[in-house]
Amino acid sequence: MHRFRFSSEIFAAGSSFHSPPQLPPVAAARGSRYSPEKLFARSRVNATETLCPVCGGTGWKEVGPDPKARQVARCDCALSGRVQRLIAQARIPARYEHCEFSEFSTDFPGAEASLEKAKLVAERFVAGYPVENDGRGLLIVGAVGVGKTHLAVAVLKELLRKGIPGLFCDYRDLLKQVQNSYNPSVQTTEMELLRPIFETEVVLLDELGAVKPTEWVWDTVSHVLNTRYNDKRTTLITTNFPDLPPHSSDEPIDNFSRARRAAREETLGDRITERMRSRLHEMCKKVEITGKDFRQQVKSASFR
Ligand SMILES: Nc1ncnc2c1ncn2[C@@H]1O[C@H](COP(=O)(O)OP(=O)(O)OP(=O)(O)O)[C@@H](O)[C@H]1O
Ligand SMILES: [Mg+2]
Ligand SMILES: [Zn+2]
Repeated sequence: MHRFRFSSEIFAAGSSFHSPPQLPPVAAARGSRYSPEKLFARSRVNATETLCPVCGGTGWKEVGPDPKARQVARCDCALSGRVQRLIAQARIPARYEHCEFSEFSTDFPGAEASLEKAKLVAERFVAGYPVENDGRGLLIVGAVGVGKTHLAVAVLKELLRKGIPGLFCDYRDLLKQVQNSYNPSVQTTEMELLRPIFETEVVLLDELGAVKPTEWVWDTVSHVLNTRYNDKRTTLITTNFPDLPPHSSDEPIDNFSRARRAAREETLGDRITERMRSRLHEMCKKVEITGKDFRQQVKSASFR
């Protein structure tokens, strides 16, 4: 089934490190292929080649930021070949590989209630998939570092473990791919490059709105999102921008309002058009996370 199936045999063979098995005297005298030295050498090769480096072959790995509060989760090596393949194909960046529900804390000092609520909605989403979602995804909204990508990746990984194909896609990378798809020096057609993003059952689009594309690139991006919606494919989205309409363009531009505009935060409507923002509300269930930047607040606190 998978590479680490024989871990118990490896442990058994490994015991010969300390006490080589007693061979019949005749075999030992002949220096046959069953000699303790050869057994020893073979088990050492097996041990380094086949033991999973993450869990050491136990099938369970430690998770959680706090080494004192020990938590374990199933190691990916214990999953079926198909699931392992799906996980490998999902292109989850290494920096988010640790993102699991079990590792998403909601009860640290200063944690806001929205964190617990968001986790619950996300867990229910996975449990009800695909029957209860009917193609609708999640739109995870919140300020920098509150855990949006962590939660979205946790959902994606659980769906992969259910055997559902999924893909992680950074918004900036998507825009680059769209741009390349029009580049005549790149020898691929638009469809070939973008096929996975159109066709994969679940796509996580991380940091929507992070950059503002040119008009023709945006046309393709909105085509991708609309096509996924029409085909009832699920899109998980994270964004830093507040889920509000664009600031109206008919504000008079005097010096005062110009300064106000520069100071104020841009909205999701400003970044992706109001039309697309309202389309996203049809496509996705909104999950709002409030609170402080986890990287700054919680991680630094735990090292004090
Ligand atoms: N509630 C949490 N419990 C455990 N770890 C968390 C939690 N929230 C965030 N983290 C960790 O903090 C880091 C930042 O989280 P994440 O990248 O998900 O934030 P984000 O909201 O996507 O930020 P950005 O807006 O910059 O994209 C990650 O390493 C993540 O695993
Ligand atoms: Mg993020
Ligand atoms: Zn493992």
